[in-house]
Amino acid sequence: MTVIIAVAVGANGVIGRENQMPWPRTGDMRQFKALTLGHPVIMGRSTYESIGKPLPGRTSIVLTRQADWDPGHDDVVVAANFGEALVRAYAVNPDVFIIGGAAVYSEARARDLVDVMVVTHVPLSPDGDAFFEPIQASHWTEVDRAAHFGTPNYEIATYVRA
Ligand SMILES: NC(=O)c1ccc[n+]([C@@H]2O[C@H](COP(=O)([O-])OP(=O)(O)OC[C@H]3O[C@@H](n4cnc5c(N)ncnc54)[C@H](OP(=O)(O)O)[C@@H]3O)[C@@H](O)[C@H]2O)c1
Repeated sequence: MTVIIAVAVGANGVIGRENQMPWPRTGDMRQFKALTLGHPVIMGRSTYESIGKPLPGRTSIVLTRQADWDPGHDDVVVAANFGEALVRAYAVNPDVFIIGGAAVYSEARARDLVDVMVVTHVPLSPDGDAFFEPIQASHWTEVDRAAHFGTPNYEIATYVRA
């Protein structure tokens, strides 16, 4: 199994504000869709509620500690912990994406569950209340970086464990 984080992060580490993305669309959703299509995507309950529906063409797996939480859609997998989420994801496809938000990224990294990080670097420093912890060169090796045109322009970098 390969566990891959997909995240878009501002120059100041901000990834969200009031349970929304902290910038208007940059254009990187096209790459995000191409990257994740056909794969299971694991997300926290807050991120799911922010999106409001399962992501088309992907198996949406939502983490929540609320036993009675209802996603409002039949085709959403609800998982009570990372172990359950990863088992359910692996049954679909061995390449599993973790797509946020801050709490879920943070726990996955702290527990060393992540093999690869695909990071959209957005050259903005918006106000926010959700953050992605710095990518330490001692833990992560950058293996690819590509510039993309958008509003603003952005870069997508891939990191593997050092
Ligand atoms: N820039 C990006 O790429 C990006 C991507 C995704 C999200 N975001 C942003 O991130 C922000 C949301 O992040 P967040 O930290 O507030 O929320 P989150 O990580 O999306 O969700 C947190 C919730 O997930 C559940 N959860 C987390 N860890 C769990 C575990 N180990 N086991 C079971 N359930 C678990 C809990 O739900 P319960 O409370 O129901 O138990 C927890 O309250 C938003 O602003 C969003 O827009 C940004």
